[in-house]
Amino acid sequence: MNIGEDKKAPLGVWGRYLITAALPYANGPVHIGHMAGVYVPADIYVRYLRAQKRDVVFVGGSDEHGVPITIRAMKEGVSPQQIVDKYHAIIKESFEQMGISFDIYSRTSNQVHHETAAAFFKKLYDEGLFEEKETEQYYDENAKIFLADRYITGTCPVCSNPNAYGDQCERCGSSLSPELLINPRSTLSDAIPVKKKTKHWYFPLQNYESWLKEWILEGHKEWKNNVYGQCKSWLDNGLQSRAMTRDSNWGIKVPLPDAEGKVLYVWFDAPIGYISATKELTPQWADYWCKEDTKLVHFIGKDNIVFHCIIFPAMLKAHGNFVLPDNVPANEFLNIEGDKVSTSRNWAVWVNEYVKDFPGCEDVLRYVLCSNAPETKDNDFTWKDFQEKNNSELVAIFGNFVNRTFVLMHKLCNGKVPPLHTDVMDETDRILIEEIKNAKTKVENCIEEYKFREALFEVIDLARKGNKYLQEKEPWKKVPLNPPSGGAFESDAMVNHKLIDNCIHLCLQLTANLAILINPFLPFTSKKLLHMLKVVDKILDWKNAGKIKLLSVGYSLRPPELLFRKIEDHELSYQVEKLRSGSIKSEPNNEKSEKMGTNDKSTNQPANKSTIQYDDFAKLDLRTGTIVSAEKVEKADKLLKLLIDLGFETRTIVSGIALHFKPEEIVGKQVVVVANLAPRKMRGIESNGMILMAEDKEGKLHFINPDDKINEGSPVT
Ligand code: 2FM
Ligand code: ZN
Repeated sequence: MNIGEDKKAPLGVWGRYLITAALPYANGPVHIGHMAGVYVPADIYVRYLRAQKRDVVFVGGSDEHGVPITIRAMKEGVSPQQIVDKYHAIIKESFEQMGISFDIYSRTSNQVHHETAAAFFKKLYDEGLFEEKETEQYYDENAKIFLADRYITGTCPVCSNPNAYGDQCERCGSSLSPELLINPRSTLSDAIPVKKKTKHWYFPLQNYESWLKEWILEGHKEWKNNVYGQCKSWLDNGLQSRAMTRDSNWGIKVPLPDAEGKVLYVWFDAPIGYISATKELTPQWADYWCKEDTKLVHFIGKDNIVFHCIIFPAMLKAHGNFVLPDNVPANEFLNIEGDKVSTSRNWAVWVNEYVKDFPGCEDVLRYVLCSNAPETKDNDFTWKDFQEKNNSELVAIFGNFVNRTFVLMHKLCNGKVPPLHTDVMDETDRILIEEIKNAKTKVENCIEEYKFREALFEVIDLARKGNKYLQEKEPWKKVPLNPPSGGAFESDAMVNHKLIDNCIHLCLQLTANLAILINPFLPFTSKKLLHMLKVVDKILDWKNAGKIKLLSVGYSLRPPELLFRKIEDHELSYQVEKLRSGSIKSEPNNEKSEKMGTNDKSTNQPANKSTIQYDDFAKLDLRTGTIVSAEKVEKADKLLKLLIDLGFETRTIVSGIALHFKPEEIVGKQVVVVANLAPRKMRGIESNGMILMAEDKEGKLHFINPDDKINEGSPVT
C-alpha cells in the first residue's frame, strides 16, 4: 500500500488507487471462471501499479450473507456459520496459492463490516432516503419464516419439472416467480407457502436516474462496451425502488427498533464490504475512500454490473463523501469445454483442485486464463488449449529463450555478463534494443486500458523476438574450434568473440526486461528469473523496463532453472475425464439460460451432434459384457470400479455412475462396452473402456443392454 515518499512516481491526476475485486460468496470454492473474470485481471493491474510505485490498496474478501449461503447450509445440513467458515478458508488459501496479492482479504461477517454497513444504512434512513413499504410475500407457517423465492419449489409450468425453484426452473431455464409454480412447497418444511404482509425499506433508485445518466452515459463513455451497454439498457428501461432489507435471520440486522427478523439485503451490505475491508487494513482508509484524487476501480464479472455501476454508486451518492468508481472493467464469462460453468452440475475447474493437480504450475493457469480472458465476449477454456498454450508458448518461446540464453552464457561467457562492444554492433542489435524499449510502452498502454490479453501477448512477443535474434546471430557457430594463432585469424577470432559477447549481453538484458514485464502476469516466474539473475526485487520497478543496462558487466549469474515444464497428454486426459465423470449429469444446459429467462423447451435435451460418416462409426469396437464386480473408488463420490467380463478377457473400467447405482445392484448386469477406447487413468486406476448409458430427461441413467442374455464379447453393430 503506502510507499515511501522518495520512491513515489509522478502520479498524474491520481493521488492513489483503490482496487477492489468482487467478494465471492463463501458458499463454495472458487473456480477458473472467477479467476479469469475477476481475480487474475485485478491482480495484474495491481502488481503493475505497484511496480509503477503508485500508492495502491487492493481489497477483497468473502461475501458471507444472503440466500446463496443459507441454501448451501441447507444442502450440506450445517449452519450458515459453518459454511462461511469452511469456504472462506478454502477461498482465501486458493487466492494465496495463485498469487492474488490482496492487501487484505476480509469477510463480511467481521464486526467492523457489520458496524460499517449498519451505520451506512442508518445514515440513509435518518436522512429519509428510504421508502417504507408493506407488501405480501410468501411465508412458511411451519418454519415461521418468510421465504426467498429460492426456498420455494414446485412444478414448472413450462416443462413440468417437479423440482423447479420459485425464481427459476433449472431444467428448462425459465425465469419464474413463486406464483407461477404448480403445487408450490416450502423447501424448509414442505408446507404450502401462504402470502403474508411484511414491511421493508426500499431505496428509490429512480431518484438517482438522471444523475446516473449524466454520470455514466455522458461521463464514462470510455467504459467497456459490455459495461456501458448494460448500464444504458438499465437506465433506458427506467429504474425503480428496490428493497434493501430482507426477512431472514442470517445477515446484518437492520439497525432500527421495529425491525425484528429483518436483515440488510446482501447486495446492500456486500459492496460496503470494500469500505469495511479498507478500514480494517489501514487507519488511513478515508484517504482512499474520500479524497477526490483516488482512482477507484471495481473488477467484477458481468453478472455484477448493475450492482457496481448503478446501485452501489447511487448508494454512495446518497450517502455522500465517498469517491465513485472511475472504471468497472467487467469481464464476460469463461465457459469450460464448450459448456457454461455450473457449480450445481459440478461443471467447473476448481482452483483448490488445480493447485493440487499441478503443483508449481500456478503461473501456467494465470497465463492461460489471461491470454484467453473473456474481455469482450464469453470465451472457452479447454484442457487441450491449456496444454498447447503451456507447451508451445510458455515452454517453447519464453522458457526456451531464457534457457538458451543462460546455457550459452555459461558455455561461452564463463557464467558472467559479457560486455557490449559498440564498435561491432549491427542493425539487428539496434532493432532488438528498440524492440525492448517499445515493449515497455506497448505493455504499459495496454494495461492502463485494461487490455490484459494484449499486454501479455506483447511480453511473449518480446521473448519470441529474443529467440529470433538468437537464431539469426547463432553465437554458438562463432566459436573457432582449433584457432591457429597469429595474423588475420586472430583478429577474426577477436571480432567473433565480441559478437558472441554482444549477443549474450543483449539476450541477458532482454531476460531482465522480461522479468520486469512478466511480473504483473506471472509473478512466480518473475521471481525465478530474479533468482537466476541474482538480482533483488528492486529491479522490478517499472521504470527499469525498456532499459538495456540492467545487469552489470562481469556480474556472475546462476545456472538456469526450469521455468515451465511440458504438460503431458495423460495429464490432460485425466483432467477431461475428471471433469466429465465428476459432473452431475442431471440437468443438461441447466444454467445455460441463467439470467436470460428463456422459455425455450428445446433446452430439455442436449443439442444434436453433427453428422458423421459410417467409417467414423465403424472405428468403434462395441461389445457386450457382464459386470462381474463393482466397488466404490476411494475419495471419488462419483466413480465405480467395474470388472467386466468381455468373453475374451475381463476388463477394469472406471465409470462415473456411482451417484446413480449401488455397486451391489449392478453386478450381473449386461452392458455395452466401447472396447477399443484408449486406456485412461482415473484416481490412479487404469480404465480400459467405457460402458454406454442413456440419460433420461430427469438426468437418470439407464443401462443399454440386450433384451435377452447373450454371449459376452458379442459385437454390437
Ligand atoms: O456474485 C457474487 O459472487 C457476489 N458475492 C459478488 C459481490 S461483489 C461485492 F459487491 F461485494
Ligand atoms: Zn422448466
